[in-house]
Amino acid sequence: MNKVRVGIIGAGRIGKIHADNLIRHPQAEVVAISDLFANPSLESWAHQRGILNVTRDSGEILSRNDIDAVYICSSTDSHVELIKIAAGQGKHIFCEKPLSMDIEQTQEAIAAVNRAGVQLQVGFNRRFDHNFKRVREHVQTGAIGDTHVIKITSRDPGPPPASYIEVSGGIFMDMMIHDFDMARFLTGSEVEEVYAQGSVLIDPVFAAYGDVDTSVVTLRFANGALGVIDCSRKAVYGYDQRVEVFGSKGSASAANDFPSTAALCTEEGVISDKPLHFFLERYQAAYVEETQRFIHCLLNGEPVPVNGLDGWQAERIARAAKLSLQEGRPVKLPPIGSG
Ligand SMILES: NC(=O)c1ccc[n+]([C@@H]2O[C@H](COP(=O)([O-])OP(=O)(O)OC[C@H]3O[C@@H](n4cnc5c(N)ncnc54)[C@H](O)[C@@H]3O)[C@@H](O)[C@H]2O)c1
Repeated sequence: MNKVRVGIIGAGRIGKIHADNLIRHPQAEVVAISDLFANPSLESWAHQRGILNVTRDSGEILSRNDIDAVYICSSTDSHVELIKIAAGQGKHIFCEKPLSMDIEQTQEAIAAVNRAGVQLQVGFNRRFDHNFKRVREHVQTGAIGDTHVIKITSRDPGPPPASYIEVSGGIFMDMMIHDFDMARFLTGSEVEEVYAQGSVLIDPVFAAYGDVDTSVVTLRFANGALGVIDCSRKAVYGYDQRVEVFGSKGSASAANDFPSTAALCTEEGVISDKPLHFFLERYQAAYVEETQRFIHCLLNGEPVPVNGLDGWQAERIARAAKLSLQEGRPVKLPPIGSG
């Protein structure tokens, strides 16, 4: 195989990003795209990009013989079923996060992938962010010594609409899932215990759906390190995504990315740009790289860099965090192998 022929399922915000990145990749070809609400406007968008097959029926994509891999970019509640069918058809899979909101279902999807012997990469795009990758390198080379504390700041510029909140799966599964993965990625250790606190401080609509908009989660890792993640659905100054890993020999940290480093200095004070607006801007290059890695691994028979088990582990932490918030106590994760 010298080219990966791809079908995309779900042509919303993230599906279109992946489509554009795949189109630009010299060793990928987007054969078809499907969306439940495919319409002439999507057709025209796709045709402009040379994607000639547009359908409302994901089954058409999954049964095509001229497709090697599928990108599952549809709403989360459809992921598991689509993974199972795609695996059954022998197709490699890139699936957006989370794999599902139910870790038992996620396990079923992973089992189907393993039975079929296909690859499954999960869309934890932040692992490919240039800043976070560099911090991880410093941890891995031993430059900061033994890891003692990890701090993650994760704040969106504004909350999603109520219709999204209703079906999002809640702040832990929808938003902090990325941070739980980042915590595992940066420390290289598994989370053993989670204690979550949460409040509704931004919009009462979160309470109406049994959710919170502000949360602090503390983590205890298997290697003894401790972690803290602070998360907000609204930072008035923009998308705030920073990390610090502190260890016995020092610390490694990454700040936000900005549109420019220009500063306006006057007698009133100093003004600079707000951080890059949101995930589409901040992680633009990371989305490109995660697709490059996926295609590279398929073409070279290498294991994908972030797989189904990584997706499942992050979901286990999210589930424990939800239970912790509900019951107001720290929750130990069951040992791996017991659920
Ligand atoms: N990694 C990231 O940074 C990131 C960012 C945003 C969203 N996501 C994830 O990507 C997924 C999609 O999110 P989005 O923001 O693009 O949502 P979206 O609502 O913009 O798009 C989802 C699209 O999928 C379509 N769809 C739903 N079920 C389908 C099915 N069975 N077959 C075909 N099409 C179907 C919908 O019609 C919609 O157009 C979610 O799982 C979300 O958690 C990941």
